[in-house]
Amino acid sequence: MAVLGYAEIVLGLLCFLFLRHYWKHNKNSPPIINWPVVGMLPGLLQNATHMYDCTTRALKLYGGTVEVKGPWCIGMDFFFTSDPLNAHYILSKNFRNYEKGPEIREILQPLGDGIINSDSDWWTFQRKMLHSIMKNNKFELFSLKVVQQKVVNRLIPVLNHVSISKIEVDLQDVFKRFTFDNTCSMVLGFDTKSLSVEFPKLTYEKAFDVIEEGLVYRQILPQWCWKVQRWLQIGQEKKLRKACDIFDSFLNQRIASKREELSRDRTQLEEAEFDLLTACMKHEDIVNMGVCSKSNNFIRDTAFNFMVAGSDTMSAALTWFFWQIATHPSVEMKIMKEMTENLMVKVDKKWECFGVQELDTLVYLHAALCEALRLYPSVAFNPRTSVREDILPSGHRIRPNTPIMVSLYAMGRMEEILGEDCMQYKPERWISEKGGLNFVPCYETAFSGSPRSCLGKAVAFIQLKTIATSIIWNYHVEMVAGHSVSPSVSPILLMKHGLKVRITKRST
Ligand code: HEM
Repeated sequence: MAVLGYAEIVLGLLCFLFLRHYWKHNKNSPPIINWPVVGMLPGLLQNATHMYDCTTRALKLYGGTVEVKGPWCIGMDFFFTSDPLNAHYILSKNFRNYEKGPEIREILQPLGDGIINSDSDWWTFQRKMLHSIMKNNKFELFSLKVVQQKVVNRLIPVLNHVSISKIEVDLQDVFKRFTFDNTCSMVLGFDTKSLSVEFPKLTYEKAFDVIEEGLVYRQILPQWCWKVQRWLQIGQEKKLRKACDIFDSFLNQRIASKREELSRDRTQLEEAEFDLLTACMKHEDIVNMGVCSKSNNFIRDTAFNFMVAGSDTMSAALTWFFWQIATHPSVEMKIMKEMTENLMVKVDKKWECFGVQELDTLVYLHAALCEALRLYPSVAFNPRTSVREDILPSGHRIRPNTPIMVSLYAMGRMEEILGEDCMQYKPERWISEKGGLNFVPCYETAFSGSPRSCLGKAVAFIQLKTIATSIIWNYHVEMVAGHSVSPSVSPILLMKHGLKVRITKRST
């Protein structure tokens, strides 16, 4: 049984880095060194910083599935896979046997009993309810209105300021602030205003970052280590506790004032704004009568889960996408051309916000976003834990309670499936001969094509396109010379050093 829990993720990745180093000096040695007693731990600890590429290379060498052996005494064995058949089997075909599981739930305990952290009936119940909210036309329209307002009132003024002042800016920081504000409005119906020319540090926004950081630590450290820290209330666990208290009090304030608003005017439940909090409160009776009566916790957990699911996934996607745009001028030109032909004729060369139907005409932009997400999926690894013993399509035997990491990162880079140019950024691979969208085998990878697939995919694309069109039409983004780009070690694939750019206003 796995004792170290989620630490395997990083330890496994490190292991492969070690192996890379070893192979360099020992060309004829077997690629994975499973040392007596310590297993692969030395390799795991060698260098965490290149974990995504290292696991990808190892998975390629081992035919797509690797069992990572931990030190024998603590039994932290786990699997990595990027084999499409295994991924489909684990995430879809036999998904009832591959849950998030108790260990992941304990690590992600600040997410409470929210959808990301649930299994079985409670997950099914939430999934159905949230799916019906998100598919509601009112929610889609509301989320479009929110992102448009944020672009016009927050993003454009900040980028104007940056371009006029001719200063460098960390575009990742801009996107993190943007998506935090955007998600708060969409989920809580509350404008946090963290994106402005002053770049303010808001206590609850900072707390949100500390929580995410704390969860990364829990995933990297052995379980006993962070549990001792939690018990003693020291180090990262102390910071995490404090940040959770701050963020909870922010959420509870928002929930209380929303309740008060609604008690004054019940009509809001039926009309007007359709933020997620209002929509969930509408379903409160169902929650109370249903699986369990935990209404207030349910509202808090749902709000927090959506903050986590919809904030940094979006900022990561935007950051990698704009890095590609800044380094591929021909792609930037093609997006401009498509916008000119499909949208701008109607608005006399002046940019404005577009509706869903207009955004849908931007096939090349869609392809360029999919291609960035293929190479840099915001959620790089999708973790599951086996319930019962099983055999994967690859023939690997899985014991009960074994952690398995499905590498979405490696799946988007498989030469066998995508061809020799799989490492190149080529939006064209997503476009069919007739000019429509092409089916690329890893199409659903970044959003996970499973019964647990991303509930926010449609909203995400509408928002990504709204933000991308506004920036590309108005500004040219240029990398700051010498800025180094590499992924951070975190569950969401952000950039380690941010994305330092200069912004020039276009003269159109
Ligand atoms: C580029 C942006 C995004 C990416 C790449 C992304 C990707 C993902 C992935 C890979 C999963 C995990 C699926 C699994 O466990 O099999 C997921 C789950 C989820 N996403 Fe997203 N997501 C994005 C944006 C959003 C947004 C904007 C929202 C909300 C408005 C959202 C809401 C959710 C929810 C609620 C889940 C949990 C689904 C479940 O467990 O049933 N996501 N997302």
